[in-house]
Amino acid sequence: MARILADRGHDAIFSYAGRTNKPIAQPLPTRIGGFGGVEGLIHYLKDHAITHVIDATHPFAAQMTRNAHAACQTLALPLAGLERAAWQAQEGDQWTTASSIEEAVEALPDCTQTPARVFLAIGKQTLQPFAAKPCHHYLLRLVDEPDGDLPLSRCDYVVERGPFTLEGDYALLKTHKIEIIVSKNAGGVGAAAKLEAARKLGLKVIMIDRPETPQRSVFDTPDQILQWLHHSANLGV
Ligand SMILES: NC(=O)c1ccc[n+]([C@@H]2O[C@H](COP(=O)([O-])OP(=O)(O)OC[C@H]3O[C@@H](n4cnc5c(N)ncnc54)[C@H](OP(=O)(O)O)[C@@H]3O)[C@@H](O)[C@H]2O)c1
Repeated sequence: MARILADRGHDAIFSYAGRTNKPIAQPLPTRIGGFGGVEGLIHYLKDHAITHVIDATHPFAAQMTRNAHAACQTLALPLAGLERAAWQAQEGDQWTTASSIEEAVEALPDCTQTPARVFLAIGKQTLQPFAAKPCHHYLLRLVDEPDGDLPLSRCDYVVERGPFTLEGDYALLKTHKIEIIVSKNAGGVGAAAKLEAARKLGLKVIMIDRPETPQRSVFDTPDQILQWLHHSANLGV
C-alpha cells in the first residue's frame, strides 16, 4: 500500500505503533508511536489536515482500528480498512476454532493429560494466558529478542521475521517436535506456510478467530483502496 501511494505521488504519512525494534523502512514519511487515545488521534488528524485514513493494521490490532474509526466518525473523515481475507480450513486440516486467546488456552490439553509441544504463533503480546497451562512446552516465534523474562517457564523461541516459507516452517515444526499449533487467523500469504506444513505433518491447529471491529468499508487489495481514494476525492469528501 505504502509503495503504491508513494509511486503515485500521494501526500501520505505512514504511522507505526512502535511495537518492534527495527520496523521495516517505508517509502513514505513515517511517524512512530501512539497518539494518546482517540482524542490524541483527532488532534493529529486535524493538525496535519488529513483528508483520508487507511487502516492497514493487522486484523488483531483491534484497538488501533477502534481508535481510527472513532476519530474518523468525530471528524467525518473517510476511512477504509485494508484487510486480508481470513484463512479457511482446507481438506486435511485439523482445526479447532477459538474465539479468544483464553478459549485457545482452554482448547489445549488439560495438564492432567500428557504434556504437549505447542507452537504459539501469536506474537509476544498475549503469551501470559498460556501460563495457566504450564505443563506444555511452548515454542515462540518473535520479531525481536525478548527484552525481559518471558511469562512461560517451559519455552524456546526463535527470532525470525516473515514472510515464512513452507520448507522453513516444515523444518521448524519437525525440529521442535511440535504437536499443536496455536495461530491467530491473520490471513494472507506471509504467515500461511505453518498451516500448509501442519497439513503435511497432520498436526492439530487451534485457530483464533478475529476480534470484532466497527463497521467500515473494508478492501482486501491496495488497488481497491486506491480506487476508493480516487472515488471519494472526486466526490469531494
Ligand atoms: N495484535 C496482533 O496480533 C498483531 C500481529 C502482527 C502485527 N501487529 C501490528 O503491530 C502493531 C501494534 O498492534 P497492537 O495489536 O499492539 O495494536 P493495538 O493494541 O490495537 O493498539 C496499540 C496502540 O497503538 C496506538 N495507535 C492507535 N492507532 C495508531 C496509529 N495509527 N499509529 C500508531 N499507533 C497507533 C494506540 O495508542 P494510543 O492510545 O497512545 O494512541 C493503541 O492503544 C500494528 O501495526 C499491528 O498491525 C499486531
